[in-house]
Amino acid sequence: MTNNKTQRKGPVVFSDIESLSGLKKALELGSDKVVDIIKESKFRGRGGAGFPTGLKWGLAAAENEQEKYVVCNADEGEPGTFKDRVLLTEYPKLLFEGMIIAAFAIGAEKGYLYLRAEYKSFLAELENELAQMRKDNLLGNNILGKEGFNFDIEILLGAGAYICGEETALIESMEGNRGEPRNRPPFPVNTGFNGHPTIVNNVETFAAAVHIISKGAEWFKSIGTKDSTGSKLLSISGDCLKPGVYEVPFGTSIKEILKMVEAKDTKAVQVGGASGTCVPKKQFNRLIAYEDLSTGGSVIIFSNKRNMLEVAKNFLEFFEEESCGQCTPCREGLPVLLEAVDALERGQCSKEYLKDVVNLTETMQIAAKCGLGQSCPNAFVSIINNFKEEYSLAKINKKEKR
Ligand SMILES: Cc1cc2nc3c(=O)[nH]c(=O)nc-3n(C[C@H](O)[C@H](O)[C@H](O)COP(=O)(O)O)c2cc1C
Repeated sequence: MTNNKTQRKGPVVFSDIESLSGLKKALELGSDKVVDIIKESKFRGRGGAGFPTGLKWGLAAAENEQEKYVVCNADEGEPGTFKDRVLLTEYPKLLFEGMIIAAFAIGAEKGYLYLRAEYKSFLAELENELAQMRKDNLLGNNILGKEGFNFDIEILLGAGAYICGEETALIESMEGNRGEPRNRPPFPVNTGFNGHPTIVNNVETFAAAVHIISKGAEWFKSIGTKDSTGSKLLSISGDCLKPGVYEVPFGTSIKEILKMVEAKDTKAVQVGGASGTCVPKKQFNRLIAYEDLSTGGSVIIFSNKRNMLEVAKNFLEFFEEESCGQCTPCREGLPVLLEAVDALERGQCSKEYLKDVVNLTETMQIAAKCGLGQSCPNAFVSIINNFKEEYSLAKINKKEKR
């Protein structure tokens, strides 16, 4: 049994809802209207990138193909993220209801839950839930009596690679290939699993979608900010007294979060996991919102006792280990960034060398093939910029940069 440490039940995902009210409403409304409501709600995917869910579902719905797929990304591999675990263990029916609604919206007959290998222990319970749903005619043929609406869900297990959370690498892995990101375009909504239109959404995205369909776009838009509607599940860890999962409306500030989790002497907050931004104390008024600090859910708190170069090193080592090695900026760039941290720690990094390394991070952010390579320098860059007092630069003669 997992102790999920759910500390705060907020206004959307954890709010009260009548079981199956979303699905029943969707079947009444029809598939076009379901996509319209999701679009009107300005709902954005909760997996990190914040892609508009209505747009994604609409594009897949518009594909004139018989075979389409709904995939739930339950890879949850971002360091510091453990919020999908709550939904997988305590709200599986809500999650599956969201997948069924999505299938109805886009016209898919098959769905997959891609479960991270580390969550293998949840498998039996999830399979039990699916079996019960088949008995209740929530999966299978003519779902809830809707003539011609057929859909079922299968669970596939990952093998422990962080990169397989990236949606195209995930699809490669589902096809039995090595988990490496694909070139885009084509996008999965056009050419996804086995070459067919596929939507990949995060666990929280499906769960929240049920509430939106059941309670309406206006209700959803009344929560959060103008550009970031609704709420976000955060998994908060690190130097605080009350770590755990919190649901907060978008627009909540870092300051409010620190108070909520009873953190003291906080020096920095890493928002968005290893690939996110390291926010220093002077910026604690910043907000959790797509227009400011976007996050898939990971919030890691660092107290005054922490050494920020150590933090940067820890994240970079993680990425070096998890890089698929396919593209040069990521494969070759990460060891160089680690060398730079090492030189900074030894006081042997010059201003000129650091400038070259920061230029390299910009190249990585632009030229890497996927989100891993593009975002892996983020924490390093924000730590270098915001915690200058934690390192000193070496003076060198002009010829020798390091
Ligand atoms: C390296 C990497 C790892 C990712 N891991 C996850 C993950 O574990 N779960 C997830 O939902 N999205 C993850 N994503 C984002 C997915 O590629 C994709 O944007 C997301 O599943 C789309 O769902 P959404 O629109 O509901 O957010 C990852 C992206 C990258 C680049």
